[in-house]
Order: sequence, then C-alpha cells, then structure tokens
Amino acid sequence: MADLDLRALLDSHAGGSFDLHAKTVNPQFVRLLRTIGFDRSWARAEGAYFFDDRGERYLDMLGAFGMYNVGRNNPTVRRALEQALELDLPGRVQLGITALPSILAERLLAVAPPSVQKVLFTSSGTESVEAAIKLGRAATGRTRVVTADHAFHGLTLGSLSATAAGEFAGRFQPLVPGFTRVPWGDLDAIETELRSGDVALVMLEPIQGKGLNLPPAGYLEGVQAACRRHGTLFCVDEVQTGFGRTGKLFALEHWGLEPDLIPVAKSLSGGYVPSGALLLSDRVFDKVFDSLENALAHGSTFAPTDLAMAAGLATLHELAERDLVAHTARLGELLLERTRPLIDRFEVVKDVRGQGLLWAIEFGEPESGKRSWNLVEKAQKGLFSQLVVGPLFQKHRIMTQVAGHNLNVIKVLPPLVFSEADLDWFVGALEATLEDAQKLGRSAVSFALKLATAGAAASLRR
Ligand SMILES: Cc1ncc(COP(=O)(O)O)c(C=O)c1O
Repeated sequence: MADLDLRALLDSHAGGSFDLHAKTVNPQFVRLLRTIGFDRSWARAEGAYFFDDRGERYLDMLGAFGMYNVGRNNPTVRRALEQALELDLPGRVQLGITALPSILAERLLAVAPPSVQKVLFTSSGTESVEAAIKLGRAATGRTRVVTADHAFHGLTLGSLSATAAGEFAGRFQPLVPGFTRVPWGDLDAIETELRSGDVALVMLEPIQGKGLNLPPAGYLEGVQAACRRHGTLFCVDEVQTGFGRTGKLFALEHWGLEPDLIPVAKSLSGGYVPSGALLLSDRVFDKVFDSLENALAHGSTFAPTDLAMAAGLATLHELAERDLVAHTARLGELLLERTRPLIDRFEVVKDVRGQGLLWAIEFGEPESGKRSWNLVEKAQKGLFSQLVVGPLFQKHRIMTQVAGHNLNVIKVLPPLVFSEADLDWFVGALEATLEDAQKLGRSAVSFALKLATAGAAASLRR
C-alpha cells in the first residue's frame, strides 16, 4: 500500500483551491476574498513571510491574529514535533496520565505570576475563556460576569456573551445570562457592579485587541484591588497579548498584576497545533475539583495532546533562546518612534499607539477633503481604513487588518521574529499608502463604495 502523497494531492489541485473551497467550505468567504483582491494562492510561509504561487514574498503583519509569535514554520518547534512523533508517545490515555502536560505546566507556572498554581489545558482561546467562566462561577458560587465594552473573548456562546461585539452576537440570541459590560477604563463602573456581591469574575484583556485600547493609568491595578475587596475573581485574558506580544512574556507584567485566572492560547503551540490553557489559582482549582467525584469536573477529549505539549515546550524554549521578548520590546519602541510623526504629517492620522509588536493607527476626518471623506464614511463607517489595507497588500505585499467593526483603526501583530528591515518595509509602505489614500481620489472612492455595496468592508473587521 502506498502512503498518501500530500505533495501530489496539492499539485493536482493547484489553481483550483478557491472553487473547491467555495463549493465545500465557505462560498461567502471566497466571494469576500475575491472582492477585496486578497485571493492569492499561498504556496508556503517562513518566519514573518508568506510566499504566493509565483514565488512573491509578502510581509505578514497579521500573524494569523497572533498565533505565530515564534514565526511561521518555526524550525525548533517543528523538530520538537518530529521528535514527539518519532517517540511513539502514548497520546491521550484518558484514564491515565502522561508526562508532557505536567512538564509544560511546570514551565508555564515558572514564568507566570505567583497568583496562579495550576494549569488546565484546552485547545483554543475560546475554550480557555469558557473554562474561566465556568470555574469562576463554581468556585465563587456566584453567577455574574463583568466584562468591558469593546472586549473580544471568543465566539462560542459563553465567550460570546462576554464579548462586546453586537455584530458577532446579534443573530445568536439568547446568549448566556449573567453578563454585564461596563465602559473600558471606568473603574467606578466596576466598583458599582461589584458592590452587589454577586459577581463571580471580572474579565478583561490587558490591552483590548478590538481597536487596540491601552488601559488608562491605574485602571487594571484598581480593578484587581476592587475584585479582592469584593471577593470577586480577577481574570486577565492573555489569549492575544501572551507569549511576548507586548514586549513582556505576559502583558500583565507591565502592571504587576496577579490575577486568579489567565486564559492563554494562540502562540502557545507556535501555531502548529491547536492549544490553549487556563492558568488558575489553587483557591479556584480546589473549589471546583474538590473531590474524587469532581476529579474530572471540566475538560475535553483532545486537551492536552502530546503534540500540543511538545510544541508548547519548544515555543517557550524558542522565545527564551532567541530573546524574542526583549527583541519585541525594542522593535515596538522603534515602530512607535518611526510612526508617531505620521500624526503631524497626515491630517487623516489621528493617533498611533501600541505596546511591543501590538500596534495600531487610527484615522479621522481630515480638515481638507472632508467631502470625499464623508462620502466614504457615510457608505460604511470605518471604510477609509480599507483604502489603506487594500493598497498595502496589493502594491506593497503587506498583510494588515482593520481592528474592529465601525472603527477606522488598522492593527498589526506580526510574528515576533519581525526584523528591523521588515519594519522599514512596513513604515515605507505605510507612508506611501497614506500619501495616496489621504487624497481620496476618484478611483479610491469608487473602490471604497464598491466594497461597501458588496458588504465586504463590514465583514472584514475582527
Ligand atoms: C483576547 C482574546 N480572547 C479569546 C480569543 C478567542 O480565541 P480563539 O480564536 O482561539 O477561540 C481571542 C481571539 O482572537 C482573543 O483575542
């Protein structure tokens, strides 16, 4: 019997993948990619680059929403996976344990704040958030969960109830009861909610991904103190900000936070295999897993797999060996230094902000050219950003994204192996693109209106 020949299979489908995808997976997504001109055939990837089927190199400033911190197809992680396969490891025993999960758990806890002492493995970010909600409720005997406006915590029902995204949630009602959202940055609003004594947990991203909102000074520390006073658990969602993204291994280190619950995922496995975890305090763990009867009170079939554990160990190793966290802090500062002057240079640029290699640029109505701006923005709020994202991709081969519905914000989160030369590539392309986009010429306006009519712009925001 011959083995499956993956190369031959791919070659036999060359050029036809869009039609097959439309037929068998998601025709609307294929339509969307064709409308915005992102319908490239991707051949391979390496570090911070993609290569299309013509061998053209593209700079990946999206990092698959933060999944590839150690770079696409990282060779260290790949070798660890190869070793794991060659070892014929037992895999999931279910009624038994294997060594790798506790070894990775020990390493994670060694670099996490001292407030967490246990690791519950999952297979994704949303599962880690769901675990935080479930365990938080059981541990406190309370039902309510407080989150912030503009939050993004995932798209399964519990996480969606915590996510402040009407556009994601609207058609999926009713959501899980007991969720309250308060304005981001408003400590008094959190205090008010906590006073009722029925809030199980407050869950916040340390830096909000949607729109990229940095916390006001003292906010996160204040929330943590308020939670302690009211017997409420504090959950810091590090799914996107974890593993070096912000120039610290975990973003919570910027404020010295010590939460009870820390969901992580995305880059934990170097992007090769689905993996996530909830880091939690013994206090929470012991309340939920409190007897033999409850020894398996929460979990899922796949988590943790040996491959995910091997990849996780290799990812932590790689982050440390290559000093990627310090590299990220340095390049993040350089990126801000090089792009902050754009605020003075371009009327349309209202703000540039970021932490590490989580960076965003915000646009607003310019003094001159108001008519065209209004035409574009009336068709679809936040549409101007597409006039930057589109040319960055088409002309400069750089992939970026709009940072949320109805927002004129572009966000980038490249693999942390991003170099100074890549930074030059990005900044140069951004300057050239802004020169053109700010003019809001006839062809730009008609392209924007075409996107709005097709409904494409609205669906591109995440
Ligand atoms: C802060 C945050 N939490 C949770 C999630 C959900 O993670 P996943 O897409 O792996 O379910 C995301 C995904 O973008 C996220 O950014």
